[in-house]
Amino acid sequence: RKNVERITTSSHALDDLLGGGLETQSLVEAFGEFGSGKTQLGHQLAVNIQLPKEKGGLSEPDKVAQAVYIDTEGTFRPERIIQIAKGSQIDPDSALRNILFIRAYNSDHQINIVKRLPSLIHEGRNIRLLVIDSITAHFRAEYVGRSNLAERQQRLNQHLRDLLKLATVYNIAVYVTNQVMAKPEGFFAIDQQAVGGHVLAHAITYRIFMRKGKDRTRIARLIDAPHLPEREAIFRITEEGIRD
Ligand code: GTP
Ligand code: MG
Repeated sequence: RKNVERITTSSHALDDLLGGGLETQSLVEAFGEFGSGKTQLGHQLAVNIQLPKEKGGLSEPDKVAQAVYIDTEGTFRPERIIQIAKGSQIDPDSALRNILFIRAYNSDHQINIVKRLPSLIHEGRNIRLLVIDSITAHFRAEYVGRSNLAERQQRLNQHLRDLLKLATVYNIAVYVTNQVMAKPEGFFAIDQQAVGGHVLAHAITYRIFMRKGKDRTRIARLIDAPHLPEREAIFRITEEGIRD
């Protein structure tokens, strides 16, 4: 993969876990129980993408890097963006302006928003990060029962292929969340075989399992990463955002 770039999470430990930050041309799935920090990391990344390159973002002197934030659960909080922006020395108003917020009302809507993103990019928007929080909620709500599982997985896999293509063609980072019960076993949104296959041999997916630790810490474990060891990082969620 050529021209891969990296975005800081504002935690050195978490950056190290990911091999130096969140990569463009890849899809990162944060999964874990409620309150484990998946949404907070999405907010942090939507701000950090706007930092200059030397500070861990992807902005250039004359070109601010922007994020698209697809919210399916109604948990995006502009006030939190303002706090995090202040913590990252970014003007809060411009931080909000450079996050294109879209509420997705059902899985069809979510899929279609992603399919329309290339036209936004072709209009000249410098989109370098896509956040989907959560990628699975609508699919879970709409496809209930065993008889619908196969169709759900098929549509989700197609959606993931759309995302990986977007990431590679436009050199953007894709961060998605997926709420699961406390154990890493069980339901995974991303089936590496089904999604990757031969078509997308160059796209990479990372899975981070997140859980609550002692004293308000959070623990992230990288699972099944192609070139990185399986290990853990500890971070905190502070008033200013994610920190070591
Ligand atoms: P679900 O979406 O329910 O699956 O959870 P999640 O993994 O998205 O959790 P989220 O990222 O929302 O993390 C929630 C936790 O972040 C809270 O329990 C707080 O510890 C922390 N948090 C959220 N907002 C703030 C804030 O404004 N200030 C501080 N200091 N911490 C916050
Ligand atoms: Mg959340």
